[in-house]
Amino acid sequence: MHKTIIEPFRIKSVEPFRMSSEKDRLEYLKAAHYNPFLLTSDQVMIDMLTDSGTSAMSARQWAGIIVGDEAYAGSRSWTKMEKEVRDLTGFDYIIPTHQGRAAERIIYGLIGGKGKTFISNTHFDTTRANIEYSGSEAIDIPIPHATEPGWIHPFKGNMDTERLEALIVEKGAQNVGAVILTVTNNSGGGQPVSMQNAIEIRDICAKHGVLFLLDCCRIAENAYFIHHREANYANTPYRAIAQEMFSLADGAVMSAKKDALVNMGGFLALKDKALADECNNLLIITEGFTTYGGLSGRDMEAIAIGLEEVFDPDYLTYRVKSTTYLGDHLHKMGVPLMLPIGGHAVYIDAKAFYPHIPVDQYPGQALACELYTKGGVRSVEIGSVMFGKYDANHTLIPAPMELVRLAIPRRVYTSSHIDYVIETFGFLLHDREAVKGFEIVEETKFLRHFTAKFERV
Ligand code: F0G
Repeated sequence: MHKTIIEPFRIKSVEPFRMSSEKDRLEYLKAAHYNPFLLTSDQVMIDMLTDSGTSAMSARQWAGIIVGDEAYAGSRSWTKMEKEVRDLTGFDYIIPTHQGRAAERIIYGLIGGKGKTFISNTHFDTTRANIEYSGSEAIDIPIPHATEPGWIHPFKGNMDTERLEALIVEKGAQNVGAVILTVTNNSGGGQPVSMQNAIEIRDICAKHGVLFLLDCCRIAENAYFIHHREANYANTPYRAIAQEMFSLADGAVMSAKKDALVNMGGFLALKDKALADECNNLLIITEGFTTYGGLSGRDMEAIAIGLEEVFDPDYLTYRVKSTTYLGDHLHKMGVPLMLPIGGHAVYIDAKAFYPHIPVDQYPGQALACELYTKGGVRSVEIGSVMFGKYDANHTLIPAPMELVRLAIPRRVYTSSHIDYVIETFGFLLHDREAVKGFEIVEETKFLRHFTAKFERV
């Protein structure tokens, strides 16, 4: 058996990037106030900021772009997307949106509001922001130890079901807006969720009459892990595993920018007609008519095709194995990581990488900046810059973990790009003691990480 992972595709079209020097990058970073979000893409060589909307589309998807039907109402491309999403999710009511957070705003704006609680394995940042913006609270209950980077568990993305039931009782079922299962658990390290866990959550939600939603943007990658790690699923095809998981829930929110292999798009899929009708009302007011949401016909065409392609066993095997390849190599070099390696990204434990930098000086931000400076590799801090809060005295309440995410765009980088990233970490390990932390000098109230400005301590 060959050991080399090969990309199961030929490259038909390329996008050159400019090689930069460390000196150039130091200037770019300073001008960007040490926030990689404020760099321009021309200043980046390998962009691991996100796996969202950064996929390379297939020739078939590009062909779909040409035949996309741009009719305002009743677009053929919508019919195709709706059929595909309905077939995959099993839900009757499918609502197109321009991306995941538009679907979040609609549904959580409707079912949220003051006095409501939402419970998740971990809310993604936009999910939490939409819920909190509506006036509700968002509580994360990953399984115990899930926030310990070195703790190994095959389904470290699972929700703590004991706490779930206790919380529903404590808050009162009528005050729980929804239970949201994020698959895979992005903010918790890209970790998978087991079918068993989803079944237990379904049972608890059904018992208490609470809405159960999936945040399903990486459900194909999650299905890969279930197939390979959970008893009784080794012979179940990936798509059938995803379908089974959808069958447990009352609805799903999807950012198609991940596992639908497109650059833009999303949807809301619901079982309940009355709720779907209300969502459609809001959709028409803020996103667009029900047969396009905020999307072009061509986007919907590409989503329908991408949702088929993503379950291809060759693709999914390459996808998860190449993420593991990056993680395994960094692990062997002694880079502290969130283990086991998840599906779409490798998460570095920046607190352990730079133990001399206190959390209120943002070790994750320091690591993201070093990685960019030394290699032109853009990553993202997922720690106290992203999730930190302040108490009444403006003292930082840190996030549970200080991670840096190397997200891998789908079908974009080759194994030599990945080897280059690994090599860059060799340089970072070499002079880690000299690296200093940051302070925030400018920030917004919500989602501050996008625009915050930093200065070195
Ligand atoms: N839910 C999860 C789990 C996500 O990872 C994202 C986006 C969203 C919802 C929101 O979707 O971006 O289409 O509005 N995650 C991206 C990321 C941004 O980099 O992880 P969106």
